[in-house]
Amino acid sequence: MARVNIREAKEADAKKIFELMQQQATEQNTFLPSHFTHEVLADGTWGPTAVVMAFVAESKASQVGELDGYILAHRAYAPWFGRALYIKDLYVVPAARRSGVATHLCRELMRAAVSMGCNQCDLRLHKENWAAMDLFEKLGAENVTVSEDWHIFNLDFKLMEMKSKYGGRGRLQIRLAVPEDMAGVMTMIQELADYENMSDAPQINAHTLVTDSPPQGTFFECFVAESDGALVGYAMFYPTFSHRGFGMCLEDFYVKPAHRGQGLGTAFMAQIAQHGVKLGGSHFEFVVLSWNTPTIAFYKNKGATDLTVDKGVQLYRFDDTAMRKCASAITH
Ligand SMILES: CC(C)(COP(=O)(O)OP(=O)(O)OC[C@H]1O[C@@H](n2cnc3c(N)ncnc32)[C@H](O)[C@@H]1OP(=O)(O)O)[C@@H](O)C(=O)NCCC(=O)NCCS
Repeated sequence: MARVNIREAKEADAKKIFELMQQQATEQNTFLPSHFTHEVLADGTWGPTAVVMAFVAESKASQVGELDGYILAHRAYAPWFGRALYIKDLYVVPAARRSGVATHLCRELMRAAVSMGCNQCDLRLHKENWAAMDLFEKLGAENVTVSEDWHIFNLDFKLMEMKSKYGGRGRLQIRLAVPEDMAGVMTMIQELADYENMSDAPQINAHTLVTDSPPQGTFFECFVAESDGALVGYAMFYPTFSHRGFGMCLEDFYVKPAHRGQGLGTAFMAQIAQHGVKLGGSHFEFVVLSWNTPTIAFYKNKGATDLTVDKGVQLYRFDDTAMRKCASAITH
């Protein structure tokens, strides 16, 4: 059993966590981008645009303020299941490994996530990171790249056409969703689930969408496309954070069949990218099922990279049951 205290990270930990991030980069023969500083980390975790939650492992054996490891995660949203979390980084110093530190960090994070009402937790791992794969599989996560063929994509905002030809002109408009739109968004979420042959999958309703998005909630935002007073598409997104800084996850994206092929999808992405740039962000992140070839072609056409094919990145997922099981095994 690890001789370690796990606690929520405080702003005063930013420098120490940043040092551990540098240590991890050195260990992995890589480096942090020059724009990523401990101030950026502090801003993403405790500042006015905070999206991250972090826990640290404070060793009982070492000096006060010394850390044995940390875990960073940000809020996410699963359009079928609702509130979610995304683990973005986990690191334990070599001297403290194999004594349960990472296990404790994950369990505390999962307990916090469950108490926030989260029903799903994703993370990404390189296919040869055997230690982490073993850790997360033991904790109950499933490799959904293997079981369901999810691929992870990345797209830099600078590759995007940032001007939207639908930016508020004509009868077709794209605008941020308001609570009154959520019944229409829910109908389209169901249409998308039908298209993906998963009609029974959505477990949420319009009320959940209202409580989880602004002004009531902070888990996701949504653009809608409106034509003659009717909603014809939506794009659900939320901010992400990692050592690359801020980004935007395009979580869910749908244009009704009659309105496809008119540039609406591109316009949605441009709007989200503009939103991301205001936050200081640089890139999109998203996942797509490998059989969804029209959508993959659309993203690749914009310059997106398939990190699963090109870099061996796999998507791991804790479902609701696995999260609760992981959280409930905490021992002090
Ligand atoms: C992966 C990492 C976080 C594990 O931290 P840790 O505190 O040593 O993990 P734990 O002690 O809680 O290990 C729990 C289980 O994970 C697995 N595991 C951990 N390290 C392992 C290794 N080197 N080889 C194989 N399995 C390993 C084992 O199943 C272990 O259980 P066991 O010790 O009973 O066999 C740590 O090695 C690390 O910081 N690596 C570099 C950063 C990284 O890859 N992070 C993950 C990506 S986000």
